[in-house]
Amino acid sequence: MKFVVTAGPTQEAIDPVRYLSNRSSGKMGYAIAEAALEASHDVTLITGPVHIPPPERATLIRIVSADDLFDAVHTAVRECDVIVMCAAVADYRPVRVSAVKLKKTTHDFSLALTPARDVLASIAQGPRAYYVVGFAAETNEIAAHAQQKLRDKNCDMIVANDVSRNDSGMESAQNAVTIFTRDGLVKGIARADKKMIAHELVKIISDAREKSLTKKT
Ligand code: CTP
Repeated sequence: MKFVVTAGPTQEAIDPVRYLSNRSSGKMGYAIAEAALEASHDVTLITGPVHIPPPERATLIRIVSADDLFDAVHTAVRECDVIVMCAAVADYRPVRVSAVKLKKTTHDFSLALTPARDVLASIAQGPRAYYVVGFAAETNEIAAHAQQKLRDKNCDMIVANDVSRNDSGMESAQNAVTIFTRDGLVKGIARADKKMIAHELVKIISDAREKSLTKKT
């Protein structure tokens, strides 16, 4: 199968030296890319700026902003069987990017922000040939919020993780997730190394993709 995996944060420029971003390390997405390669799938890894080495056999596409990611994903999905949207994409970007470094003042400063496009929702609209897996980073009411995202973004599967804990989720080497599918499957994977979680996820995703194809024929 051809997997497209997105990983890491996006950076939204404010001026030549500043940006808005988040704490995503890219570890979960990179582990999924690696696990998919180990399971003999083809992998395109679309990655935001991170500090970990990419899997050697993946086709690597580096992006910076949510807009870059939007374009890269829309090109890559044309030829994929599965897309896993693990990237922590900006929800807002500055309305204006200053061409010169903004100077400090002694007053309060407000930055005007505008919503970034939702990449996941944009690829999951209407009929499609690929299986869409979203991630949900939640701190509270995890199941309810994740299931809402599954419906709102029209995904086939959503992988929810609790990012309020220090011992799993963002930046950590470990994670604990709950998987929800459009068909009503709910499955938890207990706290483990992200590499272990990734192996299990790739198996669950490829099985679900196979099943969805059988149902259509
Ligand atoms: N996502 C996306 N484009 C965005 C924001 C999010 O494609 N501009 C994707 C993420 O890659 C993830 C899913 O949407 O697969 C959910 O992201 P998450 O950060 O959990 O939620 P948001 O949709 O940003 O909503 P909220 O911040 O309100 O929880």
